[in-house]
Amino acid sequence: MKKIVIEGGYELSGTIEISGAKNSAVALVPAALLSDDIVTIDNIPNISDIDALNEILEYLGAKVSLHDKIMVIDSKNITNKEIPESISSKLRASYYFMSALLGKYKHVEMYFPGGCSIGARPIDQTLKAFKALGATVIEDDKKFIITAETLQGTMIYLDMPSVGATINTMLVAVKAIGETIIRNAAKEPEIVNVATFLNNMGAKISGAGTSEIRIIGVSKLNKGFTEVIPDRIEAGTYIIAGALMGNNLKIENIIPEHIETLLFKLNEIGCKYLLTDNSITISKSDKLRSTRIKTLGYPGFPTDLQQPLTVLLLRCNGISTLEETIYENRFKNVEYLNKMGANINIVNNQKIKINGPSNLIGTTVVATDLRAGACMVLAGLVASGKTIITDVDHILRGYENIILKLTNVGAKIYLEEE
Ligand code: EPU
Repeated sequence: MKKIVIEGGYELSGTIEISGAKNSAVALVPAALLSDDIVTIDNIPNISDIDALNEILEYLGAKVSLHDKIMVIDSKNITNKEIPESISSKLRASYYFMSALLGKYKHVEMYFPGGCSIGARPIDQTLKAFKALGATVIEDDKKFIITAETLQGTMIYLDMPSVGATINTMLVAVKAIGETIIRNAAKEPEIVNVATFLNNMGAKISGAGTSEIRIIGVSKLNKGFTEVIPDRIEAGTYIIAGALMGNNLKIENIIPEHIETLLFKLNEIGCKYLLTDNSITISKSDKLRSTRIKTLGYPGFPTDLQQPLTVLLLRCNGISTLEETIYENRFKNVEYLNKMGANINIVNNQKIKINGPSNLIGTTVVATDLRAGACMVLAGLVASGKTIITDVDHILRGYENIILKLTNVGAKIYLEEE
């Protein structure tokens, strides 16, 4: 089993370069299958979620090369066969193959996707969209057999602005006949990245990034190129690290607009930083003020940053409240922060109260999921003594070279394999 060990208390200075966004890349790679030609995706992050997607691409018979972050995918000779549950259950994003294969072949057989255990995470909105576009969905235990004689564009209203359902609907609708309109679409930057890529291949999508997306179906998608946008959650995580332990820590390759809500919150609690068009330099601040945070879909405060931010809220004077509105089980980090000496009350499964300031002391903690793992890394950086984090595969799924990036700026952190 792999463990991350951190000796806390060291200042962070120097530069951290942000990688391509996990949640974009994991959709762009399956989207590539829709092309009848060769496509190229630049700035692919080196994370294990991408390895799992590659395994699926190769299993289907695609030719894939990945050098210097550039992935070239040739899916001219793929076979539309059932993806084994052992691979698809490794990550949430495997269901983007479900929609890409449905769009391309009008038939797909696949198992329920995996992903972090942070809530029930149903896929009813995706299935609703498939059905609205003309598909029949047969659910057999955890397996779905989805077939459409014709995919016909239509109006789809999503009950909630789901990132997955919005992308899945786009991936099918690009190959449907006529126009599809997605109402109450998610507005995350990752959706714009996927739509731009599809348009580059010849799709006709407008409105991505707003709550209404219009797609006019085309019969064929061709050669395409795109670049993965910088990971706003990875950026946010290292910005928080800078606010905790930074001495002019520079985070480079960011899109400030994508992290605006985090920056507003940093202003509110009293953090100081210097922002440019593509970087931020931040140092540790004292005398921070408490605040209230509520997670929401983009452009609201991202759920994926609430667990990392909790460590900074522990530094604030007074009681901060954090309300999680997207997932019903995303406070598993609290038990371990309290074990390290924090004073956090779980009010209910959607709200916690953080009583600050408190000092953390290193101990053994668990990365229960990806962002809880990032929270534990941040906690380890500020804690006195040694923090040992177990179950770190969750962290390596989504943070490229996290050990190296932090070591390079002065952290005492290493990976231990037993
Ligand atoms: N939901 C439904 N039915 C659906 C779809 C969603 O009830 O059919 C609910 C979910 O249960 C959840 C909410 O709607 O309560 C939002 O879910 P969404 O579909 O937006 O999330 P997702 O597509 O499964 C992606 C990211 C998550 C990120 C969320 C929200 C990927 C692979 N995952 O998940 O990333 O938290 O959007 O921004 O893109 C992470 O990176 O740590 C992570 C969990």
